[in-house]
Amino acid sequence: MNLKSCELQSPRTDLLLAEALRRLVPTDLWRYPYQQDLVDLLAEEYAVPPECVALSAGSNTALGTVVDALAVPAGRLIVQDPVFESWLHFASLRSVPVSRCRGVETEGRVPRTTVEAFEAALSSGPPGVAAITNPGNPLGDLVPIDTVRRLARVAEDNGHILVIDDCYGAFAGTEHLSLLGEHGNVLVIRSLSKSWGLAGARLAATFGSASLIDYLQRFRMDSPVSAPTLAIAAHLAGRLTELRQVWHEVAEMRDWFVDQVRVVRPSWVALPSTTNFATFLTEGPGGGDRAAAALAVRGIRVRSVEDMEGLSGCVRISMAGRDAMERVLDGLAAGEDNGAGEP
Ligand SMILES: Cc1ncc(COP(=O)(O)O)c(C=O)c1O
Repeated sequence: MNLKSCELQSPRTDLLLAEALRRLVPTDLWRYPYQQDLVDLLAEEYAVPPECVALSAGSNTALGTVVDALAVPAGRLIVQDPVFESWLHFASLRSVPVSRCRGVETEGRVPRTTVEAFEAALSSGPPGVAAITNPGNPLGDLVPIDTVRRLARVAEDNGHILVIDDCYGAFAGTEHLSLLGEHGNVLVIRSLSKSWGLAGARLAATFGSASLIDYLQRFRMDSPVSAPTLAIAAHLAGRLTELRQVWHEVAEMRDWFVDQVRVVRPSWVALPSTTNFATFLTEGPGGGDRAAAALAVRGIRVRSVEDMEGLSGCVRISMAGRDAMERVLDGLAAGEDNGAGEP
């Protein structure tokens, strides 16, 4: 059971996906993909002009394209840490220097997001590409839109492009797209892996000014998007009311799970999450690794995030159906991680 990758695991989504799969026809396989229908649907849904939307086979591909198209010529990438590791991977592949800004504040007992260092880095040149994930991963909390707006302004004043990885935004109801009309230097990358249940199908949308999107399109990041994926996504675009219900249920599951963990692990503290995962500060350093190892013995994969700066002792668990989460709770209640768990 994989609760490490934050996929959308919900019985209701499975029904929607099965319905979409039943509608696939041979044409979806032999004909080259035609993207405009889905682009138009997304543009309508998110109230942006179609020329401000670009598709890619997952957001991972979009991040790589942003590095190639924008960070390589600028020669500078600024990231809010913790950052999705692909940014670092693509930057290192292209020898782009990275300024990593500490985004975790640990003054209280519970780690939380701070953008102080990131904002300071944006406050000067030379111009580069700056990336922030909001809501954050693995912290799960949401930097308020007014703060993100300020970051966009500071970035613009200093010639930077601000890329907002909105991977978990659907669960948090983010408003990043409202920034597009205000700042020509903002790109918002929204993965449909987590929110639409399309991690295996591979699909993401990047939103930005028409000129930035036109420039990114020259790198052909849309070409690996398959016709079956487009057809499935177009079907789901018509079922957004149900998907919103799924996001709501996921949030309810997360809150219920956090409450149950309080019972079986009173010494653990849940970081305030707005996403489809919950991250816990365990009893202390090493506790995240031990919990992940103990659950692995029971066939449950979760992500210890101890390796990330400021997150010593933390473990991240993504949400799934009730039975799956009860299995996790049974594992935690058994206290097999080195005898450190509560009985
Ligand atoms: C913050 C963040 N960005 C991007 C991705 C990649 O998503 P995709 O499946 O769209 O490539 C992930 C996946 O885990 C993620 O957590």
